[in-house]
Amino acid sequence: MPFDTQKFITSQIEAAKTKVGGKPALLALSGGVDSSVAALIVHRAIGPKLHCVFVDTGLMREREAEKIKSTFEPLGLKVEVIEASSRFFAALKGAEEPEVKRKIIGEQFIRVFEEYAKKHKIAVLVQGTIAPDWIESGGAGRDTIKSHHNVGGLPKDLGLELFEPLRDCYKHEIRELAVALGLPPAVAQRQPFPGPGLGVRIVGEVTQEKAVIVRKCCVIVEEEIEAAAASGEIERPWQYFAALLPTKTVGVRGDERSYHYTVVVRSVRSLDGMTANFSHLPPKLLEKISSRITNSVREVGRVVYDITNKPPSTVEME
Ligand code: XMP
Repeated sequence: MPFDTQKFITSQIEAAKTKVGGKPALLALSGGVDSSVAALIVHRAIGPKLHCVFVDTGLMREREAEKIKSTFEPLGLKVEVIEASSRFFAALKGAEEPEVKRKIIGEQFIRVFEEYAKKHKIAVLVQGTIAPDWIESGGAGRDTIKSHHNVGGLPKDLGLELFEPLRDCYKHEIRELAVALGLPPAVAQRQPFPGPGLGVRIVGEVTQEKAVIVRKCCVIVEEEIEAAAASGEIERPWQYFAALLPTKTVGVRGDERSYHYTVVVRSVRSLDGMTANFSHLPPKLLEKISSRITNSVREVGRVVYDITNKPPSTVEME
């Protein structure tokens, strides 16, 4: 049976009215389609009692705060930006193990939420958790593949009620809901971005320097792949980005020896992120991405392409 978006939206507006009621609620917008859809549904139920915040962790996409404001303010939602990057980088210092990093990032988000909630007397936390998030976090008796930050990081003593209107939805359904709710195509069709952000695209210890490097590389990968898709050279992949390895390798710049980071380009086809196949990108496109990265990001000396499917690997590096 096809997914009935209007029926779903109406039922979740009613659920929000019952569960959240007239209480002030907090929702962290990430710029992704999941939190955007959750925000619009709950906003329809409780209006300005919904506080939307964008937590700048230092690990978000390029110019994300600006983009979010310009998307949501015309739809009547006010977005408050919380600058929290120094606390995230401080908490992540020295952490190398992926699950430890995910837990730290999740916990920092919760601390930011708690502080905001105390200040604004918030009672409910709304999250845009979707089915693959909790399934891969060990839900319904499954093995934990990775603790999605919006699932695994929630402490038991959280003084906030949780409302997750999209818990049973898959990504393609979320995109249909986004269109039905009037979100612009750029948001409805936007590629997924993980909750822990660039933190899982920096293999090993996260630093501010590495976040700047991988963010610049992600922009290049996105621009080149989107341009190739717009010109009809390729079909737009499901997800495409760059990740930074902690490994430095030797190279030559001019006639001098260099010793710089390695960047992985990842591009996959998928339906819901549960399984994925690497994209067969044309060599010319890969070459363009590689030379743009090494020419404009001085800290990168080598670019490699990930040719692994999920399984056995995952989409993100950690
Ligand atoms: P993996 O790496 O698990 O990714 O194969 C599958 C899809 O999920 C995204 N992803 C996340 N999304 N919180 C999220 O909301 C997370 O912690 C998280 N980790 C991975 C990933 O980008 C891909 O689309």
